[in-house]
Amino acid sequence: MLIEKLSLSNFRNYSHAFLDLHPGLNILVGENAQGKTNFLEAIELLSTGYSSRTSSESDFIQHGKSKTHIEAHFLARNVKENLALSLFNEAEMLLELGLEERLTNEKPRKRKVFVNGVSYSLLKKLRGRLITVTFNTLDLNLIRGGPSHRRDWIDSVIVRLKPAFYEQLSKYQKVVQQRNKLLKGLFESNHLSARDEDQLDAWNEQVAKYGAHIILWRRKALQELIIKAKYYLSLISDQNESLSIFYRCRALELNSDKRHHRDGQNFHDIKILELLSSIHNNSHDNEEEKVIVQTLLHSLNKRKLEELVRGQTLSGPHRDDLIFLLNDKEATSFASQGQQRSLVLALKLSELEMIREHLSEPPVLLLDDVLAELDLKRQSLLMSQINSDMQTIISTTHVSNFNSHWLESAHFYEVKSGTIGATEIKVAR
Ligand SMILES: Nc1ncnc2c1ncn2[C@@H]1O[C@H](COP(=O)(O)OP(=O)(O)OP(=O)(O)O)[C@@H](O)[C@H]1O
Ligand SMILES: [Mg+2]
Repeated sequence: MLIEKLSLSNFRNYSHAFLDLHPGLNILVGENAQGKTNFLEAIELLSTGYSSRTSSESDFIQHGKSKTHIEAHFLARNVKENLALSLFNEAEMLLELGLEERLTNEKPRKRKVFVNGVSYSLLKKLRGRLITVTFNTLDLNLIRGGPSHRRDWIDSVIVRLKPAFYEQLSKYQKVVQQRNKLLKGLFESNHLSARDEDQLDAWNEQVAKYGAHIILWRRKALQELIIKAKYYLSLISDQNESLSIFYRCRALELNSDKRHHRDGQNFHDIKILELLSSIHNNSHDNEEEKVIVQTLLHSLNKRKLEELVRGQTLSGPHRDDLIFLLNDKEATSFASQGQQRSLVLALKLSELEMIREHLSEPPVLLLDDVLAELDLKRQSLLMSQINSDMQTIISTTHVSNFNSHWLESAHFYEVKSGTIGATEIKVAR
């Protein structure tokens, strides 16, 4: 993967920017609040259809403007491709149209996606073309944040390997939303007829069917990741730390009739999580899927009353979590800040390697201000994983953060008040 050109128009603090990028190392240098993260965010947006900073598309449009347009020309398996995205601010678009047009025009579209010049309205058309891996300062949330950070991370890894997984996730989310709506309605009506029960059963089947797919895919991805993560962590920690990752399936916990509780460092529910592994080891995918569907159905039925009162679906992959154990202790509660950083680095390097293996070419690596957070040893390990055949775009406030021999072949760009341009930086030896 190689991004050759990127252009931004009215994107965040950039009015207009055009940039030629190079193979190998590209370093964006600029003070705080100049537009470094914004630039990387535009690439992430074209690559994945979303940004890790916001879910509101109007945030991308420069303040006071009605439209933003971003575009990338890149090579994927040596074939030239072109992706572009236009986003419109609906209110401003309407203002710009004359009264007559406003009355006759159909509702203006808020977004257009262009794939090699062909126009679409769905963001999913972008996915699976320009593949990137992003390391940013928010990544510590992978350990410290709530379960949704860990679920989103593993899901984002799978989506890059299998773009159709995104559709499965959206279908599942819609099913859960509809089921929640039904639960709320039933609770308010204070009555559960046989017809209501049938309706609920029908939704349960949908939750279990789509939910099982998601659980299976997450577990498959984790099985690949754990081997790599153990290796990287042993490199970072000089083999001082042992790592285990568990997929915590809430439905399975409930069905085991064990109360989830922690006493000091021991997780009782780890046994339950292992159960899911043993299903996998002794059976084929189909059988495993059936077991998970049954488990989800059983759990949904069991918690029906509680769900009616709370108006929420309480079992399913939207409630699951990943548990990282460092030296048999849960990393979220027991690991030091340095250990958490090492673990995040090991996980992200595993993600990078997994995506590189599946793609059979290196993805574009985006590093937003991460080197400053790492000590020299971790920096070296990260940089040693960046081969010259992997285009890497790094943002930093100071080039002095870098080991000088990495800089010899790098291309530099100065980012200043929403402008970006190639610059020369003398490397001290
Ligand atoms: N929609 C928008 N319109 C105009 N400006 C925006 C918009 N969104 C963000 N900005 C501005 O863009 C500026 C640059 O933000 P960015 O996060 O890219 O900085 P940065 O160079 O990465 O800084 P740091 O080194 O602190 O991370 C910020 O001052 C922010 O207020
Ligand atoms: Mg930034």
